[in-house]
Amino acid sequence: MSVARSDALVLFGATGDLARRKLFPALHALVRSGTLRVPVIGVARSGWSVDEFRRHVSGSLREHGVAAHDAAADTLLSSLRYVDGDYRDDETHRRLRVALQDAQHPLYYLAVPPSLFTSVVDGLEAAGGAAGARVVVEKPFGRDLASAQALNRALHRGFPEDAVFRIDHYLGKEAVQNLLYFRFTNAFLEPVWNRNYVQSIQITMAEEIGVEGRGRFYEEVGALRDVVQNHMLHVLAHLTMEPPAGAGADALRDEKSKVFRSIRPLAADDLVRGQYDGYRAEPGVDPASTVDTFVALRIFLDSWRWADVPIFIRAGKRLAATATEVLVALKRPPQAVFGPAAVSPPNYFRFRLGPDRVAVAIGASTKHAGTSMAGEAIELSVCNDRTPEMTAYERLIGDALTGDPTLFAREDGVEAAWRIVDPVLHLPLAVHPYPAGSWGPPAADAIAAHAGGWHCPVRG
Ligand code: NDP
Ligand code: BG6
Repeated sequence: MSVARSDALVLFGATGDLARRKLFPALHALVRSGTLRVPVIGVARSGWSVDEFRRHVSGSLREHGVAAHDAAADTLLSSLRYVDGDYRDDETHRRLRVALQDAQHPLYYLAVPPSLFTSVVDGLEAAGGAAGARVVVEKPFGRDLASAQALNRALHRGFPEDAVFRIDHYLGKEAVQNLLYFRFTNAFLEPVWNRNYVQSIQITMAEEIGVEGRGRFYEEVGALRDVVQNHMLHVLAHLTMEPPAGAGADALRDEKSKVFRSIRPLAADDLVRGQYDGYRAEPGVDPASTVDTFVALRIFLDSWRWADVPIFIRAGKRLAATATEVLVALKRPPQAVFGPAAVSPPNYFRFRLGPDRVAVAIGASTKHAGTSMAGEAIELSVCNDRTPEMTAYERLIGDALTGDPTLFAREDGVEAAWRIVDPVLHLPLAVHPYPAGSWGPPAADAIAAHAGGWHCPVRG
Protein backbone atom coordinates (compact mmCIF):
# COMPACT_ATOMS: atom_id res chain seq x y z
CA MET A 1 0.00 0.00 0.00
CA SER A 2 1.16 3.52 -0.80
CA VAL A 3 1.89 5.18 2.57
CA ALA A 4 3.56 8.44 1.55
CA ARG A 5 1.78 11.63 2.58
CA SER A 6 0.49 13.54 -0.43
CA ASP A 7 2.75 16.47 -1.26
CA ALA A 8 0.25 18.43 -3.41
CA LEU A 9 -3.53 18.54 -3.77
CA VAL A 10 -4.93 19.01 -7.26
CA LEU A 11 -8.58 19.98 -7.48
CA PHE A 12 -10.24 19.21 -10.81
CA GLY A 13 -13.59 21.02 -10.81
CA ALA A 14 -12.13 23.92 -8.82
CA THR A 15 -14.73 26.39 -10.09
CA GLY A 16 -17.69 24.06 -9.48
CA ASP A 17 -20.55 23.89 -6.99
CA LEU A 18 -19.13 21.13 -4.77
CA ALA A 19 -15.77 22.88 -4.44
CA ARG A 20 -17.39 26.17 -3.44
CA ARG A 21 -19.94 24.72 -1.02
CA LYS A 22 -17.99 21.91 0.62
CA LEU A 23 -14.37 21.49 -0.44
CA PHE A 24 -12.85 24.94 0.19
CA PRO A 25 -14.31 25.13 3.74
CA ALA A 26 -12.92 21.62 4.35
CA LEU A 27 -9.48 22.61 3.03
CA HIS A 28 -9.53 25.68 5.28
CA ALA A 29 -10.28 23.50 8.31
CA LEU A 30 -7.50 21.09 7.31
CA VAL A 31 -5.01 23.96 7.11
CA ARG A 32 -6.18 25.18 10.52
CA SER A 33 -5.65 21.73 12.06
CA GLY A 34 -2.19 21.44 10.45
CA THR A 35 -3.23 18.45 8.28
CA LEU A 36 -2.92 20.33 4.97
CA ARG A 37 0.48 21.90 4.44
CA VAL A 38 0.95 21.39 0.70
CA PRO A 39 0.19 23.44 -2.43
CA VAL A 40 -3.42 23.34 -3.68
CA ILE A 41 -3.74 23.52 -7.46
CA GLY A 42 -7.14 24.28 -8.99
CA VAL A 43 -7.84 23.08 -12.53
CA ALA A 44 -10.83 24.27 -14.58
CA ARG A 45 -11.55 26.03 -17.85
CA SER A 46 -12.97 29.37 -16.73
CA GLY A 47 -10.08 31.35 -18.19
CA TRP A 48 -9.15 32.60 -14.73
CA SER A 49 -5.82 33.86 -13.40
CA VAL A 50 -4.55 32.60 -10.05
CA ASP A 51 -5.73 35.89 -8.48
CA GLU A 52 -9.27 35.32 -9.74
CA PHE A 53 -9.12 31.79 -8.34
CA ARG A 54 -7.95 33.22 -4.98
CA ARG A 55 -10.85 35.66 -4.93
CA HIS A 56 -13.24 32.79 -5.67
CA VAL A 57 -11.86 30.67 -2.80
CA SER A 58 -11.87 33.66 -0.49
CA GLY A 59 -15.56 34.26 -1.38
CA SER A 60 -16.39 30.65 -0.56
CA LEU A 61 -14.69 30.94 2.84
CA ARG A 62 -16.52 34.19 3.63
CA GLU A 63 -19.84 32.50 2.76
CA HIS A 64 -18.95 29.87 5.34
CA GLY A 65 -18.26 32.39 8.11
CA VAL A 66 -14.46 32.60 7.88
CA ALA A 67 -13.33 36.06 9.03
CA ALA A 68 -11.16 38.38 6.94
CA HIS A 69 -7.44 37.99 7.83
CA ASP A 70 -8.02 34.55 9.35
CA ALA A 71 -4.53 33.00 9.56
CA ALA A 72 -5.52 29.59 8.12
CA ALA A 73 -7.40 31.30 5.27
CA ASP A 74 -4.33 33.40 4.45
CA THR A 75 -2.15 30.27 4.43
CA LEU A 76 -4.60 28.44 2.17
CA LEU A 77 -4.90 31.40 -0.23
CA SER A 78 -1.14 31.76 -0.49
CA SER A 79 -0.76 28.03 -1.26
CA LEU A 80 -3.12 28.22 -4.28
CA ARG A 81 -2.02 27.70 -7.87
CA TYR A 82 -4.31 27.56 -10.91
CA VAL A 83 -4.15 25.75 -14.25
CA ASP A 84 -6.67 26.69 -16.90
CA GLY A 85 -7.69 24.33 -19.68
CA ASP A 86 -10.01 21.62 -20.92
CA TYR A 87 -9.57 18.21 -19.26
CA ARG A 88 -9.83 16.53 -22.65
CA ASP A 89 -6.81 18.44 -23.91
CA ASP A 90 -3.39 16.84 -23.24
CA GLU A 91 -1.85 20.29 -23.03
CA THR A 92 -3.83 20.96 -19.83
CA HIS A 93 -2.25 17.92 -18.20
CA ARG A 94 1.22 18.91 -19.38
CA ARG A 95 0.76 22.36 -17.81
CA LEU A 96 -0.43 20.71 -14.63
CA ARG A 97 2.82 18.69 -14.53
CA VAL A 98 4.74 21.97 -14.67
CA ALA A 99 2.57 23.55 -11.95
CA LEU A 100 3.19 20.54 -9.70
CA GLN A 101 6.92 21.42 -9.70
CA ASP A 102 8.76 18.74 -7.70
CA ALA A 103 5.72 17.05 -6.08
CA GLN A 104 6.13 13.24 -6.18
CA HIS A 105 2.84 12.13 -4.56
CA PRO A 106 0.01 14.41 -5.61
CA LEU A 107 -3.57 13.76 -4.55
CA TYR A 108 -5.93 14.40 -7.48
CA TYR A 109 -9.50 15.21 -6.44
CA LEU A 110 -11.99 14.67 -9.28
CA ALA A 111 -14.89 17.03 -8.41
CA VAL A 112 -16.05 16.90 -12.03
CA PRO A 113 -19.09 15.58 -13.88
CA PRO A 114 -18.93 11.76 -13.98
CA SER A 115 -18.75 11.81 -17.80
CA LEU A 116 -15.26 13.38 -17.47
CA PHE A 117 -13.69 10.95 -14.96
CA THR A 118 -12.14 8.80 -17.70
CA SER A 119 -10.78 11.79 -19.70
CA VAL A 120 -9.06 13.17 -16.60
CA VAL A 121 -7.56 9.82 -15.60
CA ASP A 122 -6.36 9.11 -19.15
CA GLY A 123 -4.90 12.64 -19.41
CA LEU A 124 -3.02 12.23 -16.13
CA GLU A 125 -1.66 8.86 -17.19
CA ALA A 126 -0.58 10.13 -20.64
CA ALA A 127 1.24 13.10 -19.08
CA GLY A 128 3.11 10.81 -16.68
CA GLY A 129 1.26 12.21 -13.66
CA ALA A 130 -0.26 9.00 -12.27
CA ALA A 131 2.82 7.24 -10.84
CA GLY A 132 3.11 7.67 -7.07
CA ALA A 133 -0.17 9.63 -6.92
CA ARG A 134 -3.61 9.00 -5.44
CA VAL A 135 -6.97 9.88 -6.90
CA VAL A 136 -10.22 10.78 -5.12
CA VAL A 137 -13.30 10.12 -7.27
CA GLU A 138 -16.62 11.77 -6.45
CA LYS A 139 -19.93 9.98 -6.58
CA PRO A 140 -21.94 8.83 -8.44
CA PHE A 141 -19.39 6.20 -9.40
CA GLY A 142 -20.86 5.24 -12.78
CA ARG A 143 -24.55 5.10 -13.68
CA ASP A 144 -25.05 1.33 -13.57
CA LEU A 145 -23.05 -1.86 -13.05
CA ALA A 146 -21.52 -1.91 -16.55
CA SER A 147 -20.39 1.73 -16.44
CA ALA A 148 -18.97 1.32 -12.91
CA GLN A 149 -16.96 -1.69 -14.12
CA ALA A 150 -15.72 0.30 -17.13
CA LEU A 151 -14.76 3.18 -14.83
CA ASN A 152 -12.86 0.84 -12.53
CA ARG A 153 -10.94 -0.51 -15.55
CA ALA A 154 -10.15 3.05 -16.68
CA LEU A 155 -8.93 4.06 -13.22
CA HIS A 156 -6.74 0.99 -12.97
CA ARG A 157 -4.98 1.87 -16.23
CA GLY A 158 -3.25 4.63 -14.25
CA PHE A 159 -3.83 3.90 -10.56
CA PRO A 160 -3.64 0.66 -8.56
CA GLU A 161 -6.65 -0.03 -6.33
CA ASP A 162 -4.85 1.18 -3.19
CA ALA A 163 -4.37 4.59 -4.84
CA VAL A 164 -8.09 4.98 -5.66
CA PHE A 165 -10.28 6.72 -3.07
CA ARG A 166 -14.01 6.55 -4.01
CA ILE A 167 -15.59 9.15 -1.80
CA ASP A 168 -19.04 8.88 -0.23
CA HIS A 169 -19.41 11.71 2.25
CA TYR A 170 -21.88 9.69 4.35
CA LEU A 171 -18.96 7.52 5.44
CA GLY A 172 -17.26 10.61 6.84
CA LYS A 173 -20.25 11.48 9.05
CA GLU A 174 -19.81 10.92 12.78
CA ALA A 175 -23.34 9.54 13.16
CA VAL A 176 -22.80 6.95 10.42
CA GLN A 177 -19.54 5.81 12.02
CA ASN A 178 -21.36 5.69 15.35
CA LEU A 179 -23.66 2.97 13.98
CA LEU A 180 -20.63 0.68 13.85
CA TYR A 181 -19.29 1.88 17.18
CA PHE A 182 -22.63 1.50 18.95
CA ARG A 183 -23.14 -1.99 17.56
CA PHE A 184 -19.72 -3.41 18.28
CA THR A 185 -19.02 -1.84 21.67
CA ASN A 186 -22.33 -2.56 23.44
CA ALA A 187 -22.73 -6.17 24.54
CA PHE A 188 -26.48 -5.80 25.20
CA LEU A 189 -27.16 -5.34 21.51
CA GLU A 190 -25.69 -8.46 19.97
CA PRO A 191 -28.21 -11.01 21.39
CA VAL A 192 -31.16 -9.15 19.84
CA TRP A 193 -29.49 -7.88 16.66
CA ASN A 194 -30.76 -10.61 14.35
CA ARG A 195 -33.78 -12.16 12.68
CA ASN A 196 -34.98 -13.73 15.94
CA TYR A 197 -35.71 -10.35 17.54
CA VAL A 198 -35.74 -7.74 14.79
CA GLN A 199 -39.11 -7.25 13.09
CA SER A 200 -37.98 -4.76 10.44
CA ILE A 201 -35.43 -2.08 9.61
CA GLN A 202 -36.29 1.28 8.06
CA ILE A 203 -33.97 3.97 6.76
CA THR A 204 -35.39 7.33 5.72
CA MET A 205 -33.40 10.09 4.06
CA ALA A 206 -35.78 13.00 3.68
CA GLU A 207 -34.88 16.43 2.35
CA GLU A 208 -37.08 19.53 2.24
CA ILE A 209 -34.96 21.05 -0.52
CA GLY A 210 -35.47 20.29 -4.21
CA VAL A 211 -32.71 19.95 -6.77
CA GLU A 212 -31.46 23.50 -6.00
CA GLY A 213 -30.07 24.47 -9.38
CA ARG A 214 -28.62 21.00 -10.03
CA GLY A 215 -31.46 20.01 -12.39
CA ARG A 216 -29.19 19.10 -15.30
CA PHE A 217 -27.09 16.83 -13.08
CA TYR A 218 -30.17 15.33 -11.42
CA GLU A 219 -31.76 14.47 -14.78
CA GLU A 220 -28.83 12.07 -15.32
CA VAL A 221 -29.18 10.34 -11.97
CA GLY A 222 -32.47 10.48 -10.02
CA ALA A 223 -32.86 9.56 -6.35
CA LEU A 224 -31.94 5.87 -6.69
CA ARG A 225 -28.50 6.62 -8.15
CA ASP A 226 -27.95 9.88 -6.26
CA VAL A 227 -28.36 8.68 -2.69
CA VAL A 228 -29.61 5.08 -2.43
CA GLN A 229 -26.96 3.10 -4.35
CA ASN A 230 -24.30 4.82 -2.25
CA HIS A 231 -25.26 6.70 0.96
CA MET A 232 -28.23 4.53 1.99
CA LEU A 233 -26.57 1.20 1.18
CA HIS A 234 -23.53 2.17 3.28
CA VAL A 235 -25.83 3.02 6.20
CA LEU A 236 -27.53 -0.36 5.73
CA ALA A 237 -24.16 -2.12 5.66
CA HIS A 238 -23.16 -0.51 8.96
CA LEU A 239 -26.43 -1.72 10.49
CA THR A 240 -26.25 -5.29 9.24
CA MET A 241 -22.62 -6.31 8.71
CA GLU A 242 -20.77 -8.87 10.82
CA PRO A 243 -17.93 -7.62 13.04
CA PRO A 244 -14.74 -7.23 11.02
CA ALA A 245 -12.17 -9.99 11.50
CA GLY A 246 -9.42 -7.76 12.88
CA ALA A 247 -8.31 -4.21 12.42
CA GLY A 248 -7.51 -2.46 9.17
CA ALA A 249 -9.37 -1.04 6.23
CA ASP A 250 -9.80 -4.30 4.35
CA ALA A 251 -11.28 -6.26 7.26
CA LEU A 252 -14.06 -3.67 7.50
CA ARG A 253 -14.57 -3.38 3.76
CA ASP A 254 -14.61 -7.19 3.36
CA GLU A 255 -17.61 -7.37 5.69
CA LYS A 256 -19.40 -4.55 3.95
CA SER A 257 -18.89 -6.16 0.57
CA LYS A 258 -20.37 -9.39 1.98
CA VAL A 259 -23.52 -7.47 2.96
CA PHE A 260 -23.87 -5.98 -0.52
CA ARG A 261 -23.38 -9.41 -2.10
CA SER A 262 -26.06 -10.96 0.09
CA ILE A 263 -28.74 -8.37 -0.73
CA ARG A 264 -31.21 -9.69 -3.30
CA PRO A 265 -31.15 -7.67 -6.55
CA LEU A 266 -34.27 -5.48 -6.73
CA ALA A 267 -37.31 -6.50 -8.75
CA ALA A 268 -39.94 -4.14 -10.19
CA ASP A 269 -42.42 -4.68 -7.34
CA ASP A 270 -39.80 -3.91 -4.64
CA LEU A 271 -39.80 -0.27 -5.63
CA VAL A 272 -42.08 2.78 -5.94
CA ARG A 273 -40.76 5.87 -7.72
CA GLY A 274 -42.05 9.41 -7.25
CA GLN A 275 -41.47 12.91 -8.60
CA TYR A 276 -42.35 16.13 -6.77
CA ASP A 277 -44.83 18.51 -8.36
CA GLY A 278 -42.85 21.33 -9.94
CA TYR A 279 -39.73 19.28 -10.68
CA ARG A 280 -40.35 19.48 -14.44
CA ALA A 281 -40.26 23.29 -14.27
CA GLU A 282 -36.81 23.36 -12.57
CA PRO A 283 -33.95 24.83 -14.69
CA GLY A 284 -32.17 22.13 -16.68
CA VAL A 285 -35.03 19.61 -16.32
CA ASP A 286 -36.87 18.08 -19.27
CA PRO A 287 -40.53 19.29 -19.17
CA ALA A 288 -41.58 15.66 -19.74
CA SER A 289 -39.00 14.17 -17.35
CA THR A 290 -39.71 10.77 -15.76
CA VAL A 291 -36.70 10.98 -13.41
CA ASP A 292 -37.40 9.96 -9.81
CA THR A 293 -36.92 12.51 -7.03
CA PHE A 294 -38.26 9.96 -4.53
CA VAL A 295 -37.89 6.21 -4.15
CA ALA A 296 -39.27 3.78 -1.61
CA LEU A 297 -37.96 0.23 -1.66
CA ARG A 298 -38.06 -3.07 0.10
CA ILE A 299 -34.86 -5.07 0.43
CA PHE A 300 -34.08 -8.59 1.59
CA LEU A 301 -30.71 -9.67 2.82
CA ASP A 302 -30.09 -13.39 2.32
CA SER A 303 -27.81 -14.02 5.29
CA TRP A 304 -27.95 -16.25 8.37
CA ARG A 305 -28.50 -13.19 10.59
CA TRP A 306 -31.07 -11.31 8.50
CA ALA A 307 -32.98 -13.84 6.38
CA ASP A 308 -36.65 -12.76 5.90
CA VAL A 309 -36.30 -9.50 7.88
CA PRO A 310 -37.90 -6.79 5.72
CA ILE A 311 -35.72 -3.75 5.21
CA PHE A 312 -37.21 -0.53 3.89
CA ILE A 313 -35.41 2.45 2.41
CA ARG A 314 -37.09 5.72 1.50
CA ALA A 315 -35.31 8.77 0.09
CA GLY A 316 -36.64 11.89 -1.52
CA LYS A 317 -36.49 15.60 -2.14
CA ARG A 318 -39.17 18.20 -1.27
CA LEU A 319 -40.49 16.02 1.53
CA ALA A 320 -42.11 17.08 4.81
CA ALA A 321 -38.87 17.20 6.83
CA THR A 322 -35.12 17.19 6.47
CA ALA A 323 -33.92 14.19 8.44
CA THR A 324 -31.98 11.00 7.98
CA GLU A 325 -33.12 8.39 10.44
CA VAL A 326 -32.97 4.64 11.06
CA LEU A 327 -35.64 2.69 12.93
CA VAL A 328 -34.91 -0.90 13.96
CA ALA A 329 -38.19 -2.34 15.30
CA LEU A 330 -38.11 -5.42 17.55
CA LYS A 331 -40.72 -8.17 17.68
CA ARG A 332 -43.33 -8.07 20.44
CA PRO A 333 -42.90 -10.19 23.58
CA PRO A 334 -44.43 -13.67 23.12
CA GLN A 335 -47.41 -13.04 25.44
CA ALA A 336 -49.52 -10.09 26.62
CA VAL A 337 -48.93 -10.85 30.34
CA PHE A 338 -50.96 -7.85 31.57
CA GLY A 339 -53.84 -8.33 29.17
CA PRO A 340 -54.60 -6.96 25.72
CA ALA A 341 -55.22 -3.44 27.06
CA ALA A 342 -51.65 -3.25 28.36
CA VAL A 343 -49.99 -4.18 25.07
CA SER A 344 -47.49 -1.46 24.16
CA PRO A 345 -45.84 -0.62 20.88
CA PRO A 346 -42.86 -2.84 20.06
CA ASN A 347 -39.42 -1.84 21.34
CA TYR A 348 -37.20 -0.10 18.86
CA PHE A 349 -33.81 1.47 18.34
CA ARG A 350 -33.86 4.84 16.59
CA PHE A 351 -30.72 6.41 15.19
CA ARG A 352 -30.99 10.01 14.08
CA LEU A 353 -28.12 10.54 11.63
CA GLY A 354 -28.72 14.19 10.80
CA PRO A 355 -28.83 16.80 9.58
CA ASP A 356 -27.84 18.49 12.86
CA ARG A 357 -29.31 16.84 15.90
CA VAL A 358 -27.79 13.38 16.19
CA ALA A 359 -29.43 10.91 18.55
CA VAL A 360 -29.59 7.30 19.63
CA ALA A 361 -32.89 6.32 21.23
CA ILE A 362 -34.50 3.17 22.57
CA GLY A 363 -38.29 2.80 22.58
CA ALA A 364 -39.65 0.97 25.65
CA SER A 365 -42.68 0.87 27.96
CA THR A 366 -43.05 1.68 31.66
CA LYS A 367 -45.88 1.35 34.15
CA HIS A 368 -48.06 4.24 35.22
CA ALA A 369 -48.16 4.81 38.97
CA GLY A 370 -51.32 3.27 40.41
CA THR A 371 -53.08 0.02 41.08
CA SER A 372 -53.55 -1.16 37.50
CA MET A 373 -50.84 -2.79 35.40
CA ALA A 374 -51.09 -0.18 32.68
CA GLY A 375 -48.35 1.95 31.26
CA GLU A 376 -47.09 4.07 28.42
CA ALA A 377 -44.53 4.08 25.66
CA ILE A 378 -41.39 6.07 26.47
CA GLU A 379 -38.17 6.80 24.67
CA LEU A 380 -34.74 6.67 26.31
CA SER A 381 -32.71 8.99 24.23
CA VAL A 382 -29.21 10.37 24.10
CA CYS A 383 -28.92 13.43 21.97
CA ASN A 384 -25.75 15.02 20.75
CA ASP A 385 -26.39 18.62 19.81
CA ARG A 386 -22.74 19.54 19.51
CA THR A 387 -21.49 20.30 16.03
CA PRO A 388 -19.06 17.52 15.05
CA GLU A 389 -15.43 18.53 15.32
CA MET A 390 -14.93 17.85 11.63
CA THR A 391 -17.19 17.94 8.63
CA ALA A 392 -17.42 14.75 6.59
CA TYR A 393 -15.35 16.26 3.76
CA GLU A 394 -12.66 17.46 6.15
CA ARG A 395 -12.37 13.99 7.63
CA LEU A 396 -12.27 12.22 4.28
CA ILE A 397 -9.86 14.58 2.50
CA GLY A 398 -7.58 14.34 5.54
CA ASP A 399 -7.68 10.53 5.31
CA ALA A 400 -6.96 10.59 1.57
CA LEU A 401 -3.96 12.91 2.11
CA THR A 402 -2.47 10.37 4.51
CA GLY A 403 -3.52 7.36 2.40
CA ASP A 404 -6.03 5.80 4.83
CA PRO A 405 -8.70 4.02 2.71
CA THR A 406 -10.91 2.79 5.60
CA LEU A 407 -13.77 5.22 4.94
CA PHE A 408 -13.70 4.93 1.14
CA ALA A 409 -15.57 2.49 -1.08
CA ARG A 410 -13.59 -0.40 -2.57
CA GLU A 411 -13.94 -1.62 -6.14
CA ASP A 412 -15.77 -4.85 -5.26
CA GLY A 413 -18.10 -3.06 -2.83
CA VAL A 414 -19.13 -0.44 -5.38
CA GLU A 415 -19.82 -3.06 -8.03
CA ALA A 416 -21.76 -5.26 -5.59
CA ALA A 417 -23.89 -2.24 -4.62
CA TRP A 418 -24.66 -1.50 -8.29
CA ARG A 419 -25.66 -5.14 -8.78
CA ILE A 420 -28.50 -4.59 -6.27
CA VAL A 421 -30.12 -1.66 -8.09
CA ASP A 422 -29.06 -2.52 -11.64
CA PRO A 423 -32.10 -4.68 -12.61
CA VAL A 424 -34.57 -1.83 -12.03
CA LEU A 425 -32.53 1.06 -13.46
CA HIS A 426 -33.62 0.59 -17.03
CA LEU A 427 -37.21 -0.64 -16.46
CA PRO A 428 -39.98 1.72 -17.61
CA LEU A 429 -41.47 1.93 -14.08
CA ALA A 430 -44.24 4.42 -13.35
CA VAL A 431 -43.23 7.64 -11.63
CA HIS A 432 -45.94 8.87 -9.23
CA PRO A 433 -46.35 12.62 -8.65
CA TYR A 434 -46.37 13.93 -5.07
CA PRO A 435 -46.94 17.37 -3.57
CA ALA A 436 -43.98 19.28 -2.13
CA GLY A 437 -43.99 19.03 1.66
CA SER A 438 -45.57 15.56 1.73
CA TRP A 439 -44.05 12.15 2.52
CA GLY A 440 -44.03 11.13 -1.14
CA PRO A 441 -46.67 9.45 -3.29
CA PRO A 442 -49.41 7.42 -1.53
CA ALA A 443 -48.38 4.45 -3.72
CA ALA A 444 -45.25 4.13 -1.54
CA ASP A 445 -47.38 3.18 1.48
CA ALA A 446 -47.88 -0.30 0.06
CA ILE A 447 -44.15 -1.03 0.26
CA ALA A 448 -44.03 -0.91 4.09
CA ALA A 449 -47.71 -1.67 4.78
CA HIS A 450 -47.32 -5.17 6.19
CA ALA A 451 -44.60 -3.96 8.61
CA GLY A 452 -46.83 -1.30 10.19
CA GLY A 453 -46.20 1.51 7.69
CA TRP A 454 -43.46 4.07 7.32
CA HIS A 455 -41.81 5.76 10.27
CA CYS A 456 -41.81 9.53 9.69
CA PRO A 457 -38.94 11.36 11.42
CA VAL A 458 -39.83 14.64 13.10
CA ARG A 459 -38.41 17.92 11.83
CA GLY A 460 -35.50 19.76 13.36
P1 NDP B 1 -20.28 21.56 -11.41
O1 NDP B 1 -20.94 21.36 -12.73
O2 NDP B 1 -20.73 22.67 -10.55
O3 NDP B 1 -18.71 21.78 -11.64
C1 NDP B 1 -18.00 21.10 -12.63
C2 NDP B 1 -16.55 21.56 -12.63
O4 NDP B 1 -15.87 20.84 -13.66
C3 NDP B 1 -16.34 23.04 -12.92
O5 NDP B 1 -15.21 23.47 -12.20
C4 NDP B 1 -16.04 23.05 -14.42
O6 NDP B 1 -15.20 24.10 -14.80
C5 NDP B 1 -15.25 21.79 -14.57
N1 NDP B 1 -15.34 21.26 -15.93
C6 NDP B 1 -16.41 20.66 -16.51
N2 NDP B 1 -16.08 20.25 -17.76
C7 NDP B 1 -14.78 20.58 -17.93
C8 NDP B 1 -13.86 20.38 -18.99
N3 NDP B 1 -14.20 19.72 -20.11
N4 NDP B 1 -12.62 20.85 -18.84
C9 NDP B 1 -12.25 21.53 -17.72
N5 NDP B 1 -13.08 21.72 -16.68
C10 NDP B 1 -14.31 21.25 -16.79
O7 NDP B 1 -20.35 20.14 -10.68
P2 NDP B 1 -20.42 19.85 -9.10
O8 NDP B 1 -19.36 20.63 -8.43
O9 NDP B 1 -21.82 20.00 -8.64
O10 NDP B 1 -20.12 18.28 -9.06
C11 NDP B 1 -18.83 17.75 -9.25
C12 NDP B 1 -18.82 16.30 -8.85
O11 NDP B 1 -19.13 16.20 -7.48
C13 NDP B 1 -19.84 15.45 -9.61
O12 NDP B 1 -19.32 14.16 -9.79
C14 NDP B 1 -21.00 15.40 -8.62
O13 NDP B 1 -21.78 14.27 -8.82
C15 NDP B 1 -20.24 15.34 -7.31
N6 NDP B 1 -21.04 15.77 -6.16
C16 NDP B 1 -21.55 17.03 -6.13
C17 NDP B 1 -22.30 17.43 -5.03
C18 NDP B 1 -22.84 18.83 -4.93
O14 NDP B 1 -23.49 19.12 -3.94
N7 NDP B 1 -22.59 19.69 -5.89
C19 NDP B 1 -22.57 16.51 -3.90
C20 NDP B 1 -21.94 15.22 -4.03
C21 NDP B 1 -21.22 14.89 -5.13
P3 NDP B 1 -15.76 25.42 -15.51
O15 NDP B 1 -16.74 26.01 -14.54
O16 NDP B 1 -14.54 26.25 -15.65
O17 NDP B 1 -16.42 24.97 -16.78
C1 BG6 C 1 -25.43 14.31 -2.10
C2 BG6 C 1 -26.54 14.30 -3.11
O1 BG6 C 1 -24.58 13.22 -2.31
O2 BG6 C 1 -25.99 14.23 -0.79
C3 BG6 C 1 -27.51 15.44 -2.85
O3 BG6 C 1 -25.99 14.44 -4.41
C4 BG6 C 1 -28.01 15.40 -1.42
O4 BG6 C 1 -28.62 15.35 -3.74
C5 BG6 C 1 -26.82 15.32 -0.46
O5 BG6 C 1 -28.76 16.57 -1.17
C6 BG6 C 1 -27.30 15.15 0.97
O6 BG6 C 1 -26.22 15.16 1.85
P1 BG6 C 1 -26.43 15.55 3.37
O7 BG6 C 1 -25.07 15.44 3.96
O8 BG6 C 1 -26.96 16.96 3.35
O9 BG6 C 1 -27.42 14.59 3.93
